[in-house]
Amino acid sequence: MIKHLNRRGFIKTASLAGGALWLPNTLQAKQEEFMGEREIGLPKYELDTPALCLDLDKLERNLSQVQEKLKNTGVAVRPHVKTHKCPDLAKMQMQAGAIGVCAAKLSEVEVMLENGVDQVLMTGVNVTPNKIKKAIQLRKKHPGFIQAVDNMENAKDLQEAAKAAGITADVVVDLDVIKRSGAIPGEPALKLAQFVDQAPNLNFRGILAYDGGVQHVHGYQTRRQRNLERMTPIIETHELMKRSGLNLEIFSGGGTGTYDMMGDIPGFTDVQAGSYLFMDCQYMDIGGVGNEELFDDFAPSLTILSTVINTNHPDRLITDGGAKAVTLNKPAARVIGEPNFNYNAGSDEYGTVTFTESNGSYKVGDVLEMIVPHCDPVVNLYDRIYGIRNDKVEKVIPVLARGMSQ
Ligand SMILES: Cc1ncc(COP(=O)(O)O)c(C=O)c1O
Repeated sequence: MIKHLNRRGFIKTASLAGGALWLPNTLQAKQEEFMGEREIGLPKYELDTPALCLDLDKLERNLSQVQEKLKNTGVAVRPHVKTHKCPDLAKMQMQAGAIGVCAAKLSEVEVMLENGVDQVLMTGVNVTPNKIKKAIQLRKKHPGFIQAVDNMENAKDLQEAAKAAGITADVVVDLDVIKRSGAIPGEPALKLAQFVDQAPNLNFRGILAYDGGVQHVHGYQTRRQRNLERMTPIIETHELMKRSGLNLEIFSGGGTGTYDMMGDIPGFTDVQAGSYLFMDCQYMDIGGVGNEELFDDFAPSLTILSTVINTNHPDRLITDGGAKAVTLNKPAARVIGEPNFNYNAGSDEYGTVTFTESNGSYKVGDVLEMIVPHCDPVVNLYDRIYGIRNDKVEKVIPVLARGMSQ
């Protein structure tokens, strides 16, 4: 997508930016500037770039699509906020019918809980004394906080911390699918779940099992079959736990690539999809039900705007969107409307677009719009996301959990 600014548009934009410089330097003005409130109503192509934009119509379609698809399947949605890191978007997900949200890290959990998102399941574990203490304090303040555990020592530490704080903490046992995190399925996981269940200050709520290795398997049927195969030890462990008398209120997992396949898993309760909200090049390429080449259940709502800043060489355009704006994730960002453009974000501050034919009509100041390579790390580069409708900024969404990786 290209947008040429004509001379009048250029002057208008330039004077707007100039005016902003002369506003009184009060706290209020600073706050407004940070929140981007001055940009509300601005045509999106007049935003300073690189800018992260969210098409609100597409976002709303994605929010309702996931609920619609899972209606009557017995599987609920508990979206992962590691994708967007925005309490505002988490609240929209809850309003659309999510039963709660997942978060990856404790600092991310805290931002959600302290900003009005009251049902948060942390899928990662807390193993250091500081984090255990903080997690227990968060649980004391927010009854909707559930945390994961994947080894016995950690479960004992959580029990001690919960006892010292005088609370009962809600805990799920994370099961290992991809040799990354989680308890070993079978007897070890059963023993851990039984320990949690019997610990006086822990409340066993169920299990998690996320398979990050199957989400991007190409082809719907192959993915579906692979998901079922790889989840088999988890299904057996779930059975084992049930037979032992454990109450498994939660059996959570799955992601965007398997969101409509998790009903194949007996006892499964909720999908932790995250990327469905934004989509990205990685997910678009995995193929969907009726289209082996394109996964189009969800629309790519998240884009980056980047400005052409140099056209001195006929075989390339240089933009202001390098690795710090686009990331180095593969596949490369895709310029909307320009299928023959190859985008290289290899320099920190510069992007390079090459093409087979000459750059044609592109001029310095033109704006390109790109679909992001992988949404999660891109979002973590921006303080705010511009919510766009009819090509204008309708709202500015602060990425409050940006950088919250502890
Ligand atoms: C534990 C867990 N659950 C869910 C997700 C969401 O996956 P996706 O963004 O692929 O939907 C992730 C992503 O990495 C994850 O780590």
